[in-house]
Amino acid sequence: MMRTRLIAGNWKMHKTVAEAVEFVNDFRQAMPSSTAIDILLAPPFVSLFAIHQTMTANDRFTLAGQNLHWEKEGAFTGEISGPMLKALGCTFVLVGHSERRQLFGESNADVNNKVNAALEHGLGPIVCIGETLEERDAGKTQAIVKDQLLKGLSGLSAEKVSKITIAYEPVWAIGTGRAATIEQAEEVHTFIRATLTSEWGREVQDVRILYGGSVGPQNAEALFGCAEIDGALIGKACLDPATFAKICSLAVSAST
Ligand code: PGA
Repeated sequence: MMRTRLIAGNWKMHKTVAEAVEFVNDFRQAMPSSTAIDILLAPPFVSLFAIHQTMTANDRFTLAGQNLHWEKEGAFTGEISGPMLKALGCTFVLVGHSERRQLFGESNADVNNKVNAALEHGLGPIVCIGETLEERDAGKTQAIVKDQLLKGLSGLSAEKVSKITIAYEPVWAIGTGRAATIEQAEEVHTFIRATLTSEWGREVQDVRILYGGSVGPQNAEALFGCAEIDGALIGKACLDPATFAKICSLAVSAST
């Protein structure tokens, strides 16, 4: 397989700074040392500095922000910019997570601005897309995913798109314990891949497409066994170091 699997932990609004540092120390002991996969931690902004301070060249994980503003600085109370994340050691940033879209009103146009800003500041955007249960039941999954993809990545060159990661996260599967079946995930991943190729051509064939939504040790092996699934974006199951390490180990087994 050409694409290195990426396992990303989205901590959401969990853990104080002390808890974050404790997690990272425990995770270092439990995580696989293999270079066959990429591992990413996306803690709350306030813990990035403390975690970064503990990191060395031997660490096999990198950091991501959970969100960013598209301006590099200015009068935007409560916001965080790409250069700020970069200065804290982030290599990636989540963009357009469904909670940002649903709870904080982020639009596809906002996602587009954020993707451009992330790329401009040397961060790899992980663009989250996915349908609600209502949309799935109405047979609109492909239309929604395509719309989010084309609007979120509107105006980008193939070279820029090649630096992006997509996370397919059906909204009904997030935090519900009800993951998509392998067949459901595979079908949408195949559709996303086809859409990327038809819009941007072969230059974007190495774009990773992650699955997210109730991924845990119980279903990770089956998900990683699917050639269309290049890794996972994990919420609840990334908060415990042993559990997250277990999922990473399953990804290593599927990659070696
Ligand atoms: P979950 O969250 O693993 O708790 O379902 C996934 C996500 O929101 O990225």
